[in-house]
Amino acid sequence: MLEESYRVGILTLSDKGSCGEREDESGALLAELVSGLAKVVRYQVVADDQDKIILMLKSWVDDLHLDIILTTGGTGLSPRDVTPQATEAVLDYQVPGMAEAMRAASFKITPRAMLSRALVGVRRQTLIINLPGSPKAARENFEVLRPVLPHALAKLTGDPTDCAVD
Ligand code: MTE
Repeated sequence: MLEESYRVGILTLSDKGSCGEREDESGALLAELVSGLAKVVRYQVVADDQDKIILMLKSWVDDLHLDIILTTGGTGLSPRDVTPQATEAVLDYQVPGMAEAMRAASFKITPRAMLSRALVGVRRQTLIINLPGSPKAARENFEVLRPVLPHALAKLTGDPTDCAVD
């Protein structure tokens, strides 16, 4: 599959963003960062509400069959941070190495990286990636995963070729 033909949804989780009290810089940034890999076909800002997030993720996977979903925000320890819980509820399986890699690389930048509970995993044939909420953190975490995403998506969408390590 041509890389640009992957379809991505960007889901920003923010109470303030959802009611227009804060501009969603991270969602816009992720749309830029993902260009060349996938086309943004859905973009939504939703409040930090576990049930709403679950409904949105399920709809983007089960109805729209997106190849990849990037969430930003709600991965920390605040009482309203529920993105990982909502994500876990919809995943068929996790890809722990991708989340571990983000935290390991981020820890070299800030010890606060360990406060992100971000998950990466798969529902059906969709890769779901949690990223932290600030534009800086979203960029730093996404850049860790970016090099492996073409291969991850190719495998997920059925590429039967052997994995060659370069
Ligand atoms: N990771 C990177 N690379 N850079 C950062 O600045 N911020 C951390 C962490 N991960 C950060 C990072 C902080 S301060 C928090 S609280 C957690 O992500 C969770 O962020 P969230 O609640 O916005 O999702």
